[in-house]
Amino acid sequence: MLASPVLAPTWTALLYLVAAVCFILALKGLSSPKHARRGNLIGAFGAFVALVTVFLSSRLQNLPWIFGAMVVGAAIAAPVARRVKMTQMPQLVAMFNGVGGGAAGLVALLELPHAENAWLRVAIVFTLLVGAISFAGSGVTFAKLQELMTTRPVMFAGLPVLMGVVLVVAVGTAALVVATGSVGLAVVVLAVGLVAGVLLVLPVGGADVPIVISLLNAFTGLAVAASGLVLGNVLLVVAGTLVGASGTILTRLMAAAMGRSVSGIMFGAFKGGSTAGSTVASERPVRSSNPEDVAVLLGYAQRVIIVPGYGLAVAQGQHTAAELAQALESRGVDVEFAIHPVAGRMPGHMNVLLAEANVPYESLKEMSEVNGDFKQADVALVVGANDVVNPAAKTTPGSPIYGMPILEAGDARQVVFLKRSMRPGFAGIENELLYEPQTTLLFGDAKESLAKVLSAVKAL
Ligand code: TAP
Repeated sequence: MLASPVLAPTWTALLYLVAAVCFILALKGLSSPKHARRGNLIGAFGAFVALVTVFLSSRLQNLPWIFGAMVVGAAIAAPVARRVKMTQMPQLVAMFNGVGGGAAGLVALLELPHAENAWLRVAIVFTLLVGAISFAGSGVTFAKLQELMTTRPVMFAGLPVLMGVVLVVAVGTAALVVATGSVGLAVVVLAVGLVAGVLLVLPVGGADVPIVISLLNAFTGLAVAASGLVLGNVLLVVAGTLVGASGTILTRLMAAAMGRSVSGIMFGAFKGGSTAGSTVASERPVRSSNPEDVAVLLGYAQRVIIVPGYGLAVAQGQHTAAELAQALESRGVDVEFAIHPVAGRMPGHMNVLLAEANVPYESLKEMSEVNGDFKQADVALVVGANDVVNPAAKTTPGSPIYGMPILEAGDARQVVFLKRSMRPGFAGIENELLYEPQTTLLFGDAKESLAKVLSAVKAL
């Protein structure tokens, strides 16, 4: 079926410009939790404009297939996106990202027979290779985060050599495709890209996996931008470049927030260094308390800093934490939330969580802003957080988190940890702060403990 275009080229260009501006405004909005929701909506609107423009401006063939694919895609993606738990968001991003890379690769493969010159074929093999790496790599990160396979780095003898061989084969075959335009060889490039994607991600483990998702996101952006060159679609070039650039920036920011280099994350396992540690609970004695005593500590304090972490998200205790903060504030206690950039399991995890509970943005303090305040705080209430307050990051060279900037909760007069056991955090290492004389532990699920402390505060 061949439909004739409705839009004149000028209108198409104008609408693509509108969509591109929307994407840029979306990124701007997403840079702060205050405007993130609006940013997201603007981005979605831009994507809708782009989609409609494509339909109205092109002579599209195979319309039933296109609509069929859209219906199937939407029927799978919409319920998955609605039902996903906040803690599973990185896996979802990995999956969506991988599919984007794979789609760009397939589009490039279909365009190869129509490529008129070598430069176009360069863009095609680039899209094929990078898209395939992103697809397969994202699949492995999904499997790791969903615990369908081990989350630890997977290494085997000869992996570096195999990676080298795959790289040489990929570059050699890609050069042949550029020279000959052979579709058969292009399929080989695609297959080699898939193998490369798997091999690239296998040695990455533990806390580094979400960072690799962000890196693969940047790869998908580049593949999509190159597919824009292949299709002669300027909006794909713009959107792909934006994704590539923002993915690269996010990767660097996350790596810096964990005190690691991107190369250390990707290839650290070759030297035996990774952030995946033990999950065994320590048996050293600690001081533990009950909800009533913690309520007294908090209720008669002047200044309390709450440090939320992954456990708060798991327990879904954000609403109770917000209520506790309100109850304390109504008693005249000054309450702040200290947000570590990699608290939880995804960028902005704590911001999203606390925004959901309507904690005012002014109460959310970034690490650099709040770290000086701990010295004046009567209580640091650490709720389901561990690594982000672990002093080993400063004191123990060789520790997997050594060099990661931390929240200085240990500077507060009293530190109260809400956690269920003596199990370590994500990095799998002991936290000496748990054994310090000013530290008390309230064992239990974070939401339940917060609820008990809240009712005890109200009864004061
Ligand atoms: P973690 O160090 O992982 O500590 C979480 C703590 O929460 C654990 O000690 C756990 O102890 C406790 N917990 C779990 N479920 C709980 C529940 N239902 N109720 C109460 N406590 C519960 O978390 P964090 O301090 O937020 O640090 C984040 C870690 O993830 C860092 O190592 C970071 O590098 C890594 N990471 C972050 C990101 C991003 S971008 N945010 C990405 C990848 C990796 P119990 O089991 O004893 O309860």
